[in-house]
Amino acid sequence: MKILVLGSGGREHAIIRALQRDPSVQEIHAAPGNAGIARDVPVHDVDATDATGTTVLAGELGVDLVIIGPEAPLAAGVSDALRRAGLTVFGPTKAAAELEASKSFAKDVMAQADVPTADARTCANRREAESALDAFGAPYVVKDDGLAAGKGVVVTQDRDQALGHADACFAASGTVVVEEFLEGPEVSLFVISDGTNAVPLVPAQDFKRLGDQDTGPNTGGMGAYTPLDWLPEDFTDEVMEQVARPVIATMADRGTPFAGVLYCGLAVTERGIRVIEFNVRFGDPETQAVLARLRTPLGRLLMDAATGCLAGVKALEWSDDYAVDVVVAAEGYPQSPRKGGVIAGVAEAEALENVTVLHAGTGTGPDGGLVATGGRVLAVVGRGKDLAGARSRAYEAVDLITLPGSQHRTDIGLLAERGEISLAGVGERS
Ligand code: AMP
Ligand code: GLY
Repeated sequence: MKILVLGSGGREHAIIRALQRDPSVQEIHAAPGNAGIARDVPVHDVDATDATGTTVLAGELGVDLVIIGPEAPLAAGVSDALRRAGLTVFGPTKAAAELEASKSFAKDVMAQADVPTADARTCANRREAESALDAFGAPYVVKDDGLAAGKGVVVTQDRDQALGHADACFAASGTVVVEEFLEGPEVSLFVISDGTNAVPLVPAQDFKRLGDQDTGPNTGGMGAYTPLDWLPEDFTDEVMEQVARPVIATMADRGTPFAGVLYCGLAVTERGIRVIEFNVRFGDPETQAVLARLRTPLGRLLMDAATGCLAGVKALEWSDDYAVDVVVAAEGYPQSPRKGGVIAGVAEAEALENVTVLHAGTGTGPDGGLVATGGRVLAVVGRGKDLAGARSRAYEAVDLITLPGSQHRTDIGLLAERGEISLAGVGERS
């Protein structure tokens, strides 16, 4: 199989590394990729959101499968353009990508599919936002209704700050979703679908806030780990039954079947599982940890999903170790990341056993060395026979890497390692 991967983040680097382990994959290309991806496979200077450019490239390369990594090309309809040109694509149509691109669309589908989620109101102006904030009370949750790379959400005790975020969204001529605050640990579960059938990956936990102990602004995600020992054994089955299968069936009924990866962002609350959000692609940085443990060949799996052939796929196989990834972000991330900082120590970090350094915002500087080109720069993956071992590997490696002003969290997986994540009433339905 010959595959083209679209995107330039740590998620795409992780996907490429997993594809390289699949004996049925002979050749991999990436567009546009990054400096780390360019060390592994040929990269092409075509923007992932450029429907014409990616279609021409895929045709010229003669690939069997195109895998679309990020949400922006999916929301822009790149998968539709590729399919119209006769290509096989892993990634939902623009119509199905609305599950991520519009929070209010996702709420409609969940209501139709009877999927448990936070109560919410879509608001078009300040008066409606004020009334919704007062109806739900603090902590306040205000979400930009459109795509915002995980940064469009404000969760705050401060009513003025909540209203300020709503005003900013209205000023950008958007709408906002104001919703009930969900209390409980968050879990990301990725479900691969061919439009009808569905296969889950393993749950992971992401760390969305910039600072230790969940302080500071929301980001795209600062680290992740898997597996989650604190979840009940039937957690994945429950999510498949209560969330993934009903949503996939409802999307098919609506005439917009969902084929690709359905990212279920969940809160495990006292009242049971609640959906926080859907994404229509693999999560970043959860994928870097999850795929590190996948034994089932990824290329074949995604090809089966892209061609409607998941019915025969059995449960996926996983290594029985733990994986933790820690994101190294540039100075100023998420507001205004500083570009051009010199990165050193990656080779030393990678020389450690059970460590992989995946690239996100990296490029090549004038002297041929690595420089930062984006907010999240690297994801450093550590593996171990337990969570403590995986964490210490990841952090040993992070400590060998330098980038002036860089930021990373020191507590990825720490509460789980200490056994301090508590679940009141998980699995109970309400
Ligand atoms: P989203 O973009 O919807 O994933 O939101 C980003 C982050 O904001 C989530 O990962 C949560 O940490 C937080 N968040 C979003 N919605 C809620 C909610 N209803 N209750 C509590 N936290 C939320
Ligand atoms: N890790 C959050 C996301 O991929 O949206």
